[in-house]
Amino acid sequence: MTKALLLDGDALAVRLRADLASRVTALRQRGHSPCLATLLIGDHSASDAYVARKHADCAEIGITSKDIRLPHDIDPQAALAEIAALNADPSVHGFLVQLPLPDHLDAQTLIEAVDPAKDIDGLHPVNLGRLVAAAPGLRPCTPQAILALLRAYNIPLAGRSVVIVGRGALVGRPLAMLLSLPGTDATVTLLHRQSANSAAAIAAADVVISAAGVPDLIRGAMIKPGAAVVGVGISYDAAGQMVSDIAADVGQIARWVTPRHGSVGALTRAFLLSNLVTAMEQP
Ligand code: GUN
Repeated sequence: MTKALLLDGDALAVRLRADLASRVTALRQRGHSPCLATLLIGDHSASDAYVARKHADCAEIGITSKDIRLPHDIDPQAALAEIAALNADPSVHGFLVQLPLPDHLDAQTLIEAVDPAKDIDGLHPVNLGRLVAAAPGLRPCTPQAILALLRAYNIPLAGRSVVIVGRGALVGRPLAMLLSLPGTDATVTLLHRQSANSAAAIAAADVVISAAGVPDLIRGAMIKPGAAVVGVGISYDAAGQMVSDIAADVGQIARWVTPRHGSVGALTRAFLLSNLVTAMEQP
């Protein structure tokens, strides 16, 4: 039995989508019909499912969407040409290149080809630079989702010790920056495989966020009683079942914890659409 309060990202995402639907209605009344495109290269069953959910969310809140699929062996120049076409298409207001990519394609090259104004993933160096500069810009979606979830439950962050496990480009690195910006003011420690004394940092943390993709990496005995624990990393066991970074016994020790399945994914998608709507609301 979990004693901790479950951080219900799915419920928060429902509220965010309802708010987005009314903002989309207002945009339509001013003659703007938002349109999102996804670019999926090759066959990848998890990506297929993620992209399908993004399009379902668009349909729910009144955003038109285009589902562009390219073959797994596409020439890099041809992939760049597709991105250039989306940049130039005035009917598409934002798009993303679904990751991971086939091995012969360089993700950074493709991300840097996206027009920063249409980069609703917030992964273009211009937008990441604006994040570091604390300037307005499109922010990466999973970091926004995690911050919104912590805020929704009034989990104190200012001056508190937040440990992030995993330094990936999608979550760990931008999240460390987002949480330490003025206005949020967390004291962030970013742990990774080379970190010495990870156990001491985790044991002292008020908030632990795991984006490592290591099964049951964070266990109840490792955390401070009363901490908040957020799991975003996932992996798959031998039977193909999804496994959380957060072990089941964390719920006995933490005050707040994300459920072991779901929660942050739906919120991440809500922030993707929020980025699109926000970009369109700019004068
Ligand atoms: N693959 C897994 N997560 C993401 C994401 O947030 N954006 C993109 N483009 N691909 C992903």
